[in-house]
Amino acid sequence: MRALVIMDPIEAVNVDKDTTFGFMLAAQARGHTLYYCHPRQLYTLGGQAYAMAAPIQVWHRPEAFYQLGEAAPHALCDFHSVWMRKDPPVDRAFLHATWLLDRANTQVLNAPSGLRAANEKLYMLQFEAHIPETRVTQDAAAILRWLDARGAPLIVKPLDGHGGFGIFKLTPGDPNNPSILEVLTQGGQWVMAQAYLEAAREGDKRIILLDGVPLGAILRVPQAGENRGNIHVGGRVVQTTLSAAERAICAAVAPKLKADGLIFVGLDVIGERLTEINVTSPTGIREILALDGVDIADAYIRWIESQI
Ligand SMILES: Nc1ncnc2c1ncn2[C@@H]1O[C@H](COP(=O)(O)OP(=O)(O)O)[C@@H](O)[C@H]1O
Ligand SMILES: [Mg+2]
Repeated sequence: MRALVIMDPIEAVNVDKDTTFGFMLAAQARGHTLYYCHPRQLYTLGGQAYAMAAPIQVWHRPEAFYQLGEAAPHALCDFHSVWMRKDPPVDRAFLHATWLLDRANTQVLNAPSGLRAANEKLYMLQFEAHIPETRVTQDAAAILRWLDARGAPLIVKPLDGHGGFGIFKLTPGDPNNPSILEVLTQGGQWVMAQAYLEAAREGDKRIILLDGVPLGAILRVPQAGENRGNIHVGGRVVQTTLSAAERAICAAVAPKLKADGLIFVGLDVIGERLTEINVTSPTGIREILALDGVDIADAYIRWIESQI
C-alpha cells in the first residue's frame, strides 16, 4: 500500500516516543510505501485534494532517522490511506485542512468530519454517566459561586488546550481564582470547570482505542509540585491495566467513535472518570510497547490493510 502521512515537521520527532513515527516504522516493516507532507502542502485542483508530498524512509535510530525523496504533486486518491496526524492546536488552519481532506476520495484517518465533530474537551459531554461533574461557561462569577458552594477544588481548562496548557486547580478562597478565570475567559473564551478528582495524584490514564477496541493503556503520574500528568510537562509513565469500569467507558464511547470515523483515539481517564477524548494526534503507543510489549502500531497497520 501507499500511505500519506500528514504531520508536523519530521525533523523534530522524538524517534523513541512519537506515535506517528511508530506508525511509519510499522508500515515500512510490513512492506508499505510512505509519503510525507505538512498540512500546508495540501491543495485542491477542481474538486480533488492533492498534496506536494515526498516519499520518505524512516529508521529507528537517533541520527539520520529519515530520508526524503523529491516532493511532487500527488492526488490524495492515489494513496490507499491518508493519515492526518497534525498535532493540536485545532485552529483555523487545522479545520481548513479537514475540509480539504473531505475531497481526498480515499481512506482518511481519522475521518475529517470526525475531527471536526470531536472537540477533544467537549466530545465527552455526550457520555455524561462517565464524566466528572463539569460545566462549560464564560461566566467566571458562576464558576466562583460553584467553587464556594462545593467547598472543594475545581480544575479549569481552556477548550482548545493540549499537553496540559492552561490547566489550573482552583482552591476555595484562593485570591488568585478571579484573576485565573479572567485570563481563561478573556475575549469571549469558554472555560471548562470540572470537579477536581483526587485520583489525579495517582495518575491520568491514557487508553488507546483502535476502531473502538482498547488495545493498551499507560498511567501518567504528575511529578512532585505539579497538578498535571501530561508527559509534555514531566508526567512519569507507569505500567497499568484496565478496570471493569474503564472497560465500560470504552464500550460506551466505541459506537459513537466508530460512527464518527474516529479510528485511532486516546481516552484520558482519571479515577475511572472520562476527562478527555483525544482524536487529533493521540500518543502513547511507544510507551505501551516498551512497558507491555503490545505493538499497537503494527495493529494499526494491519487494521488499515484489512480495510483496503
Ligand atoms: N478533573 C480533573 N481533576 C484533577 N486533575 C485533572 C482533571 N482534569 C485534568 N486534570 C489534570 O490535568 C491534566 C491535563 O488534563 P486534560 O483534560 O487531559 O487536558 P490536556 O488536553 O491538556 O491533556 C491531566 O493529566 C490531569 O493531571
Ligand atoms: Mg489530556
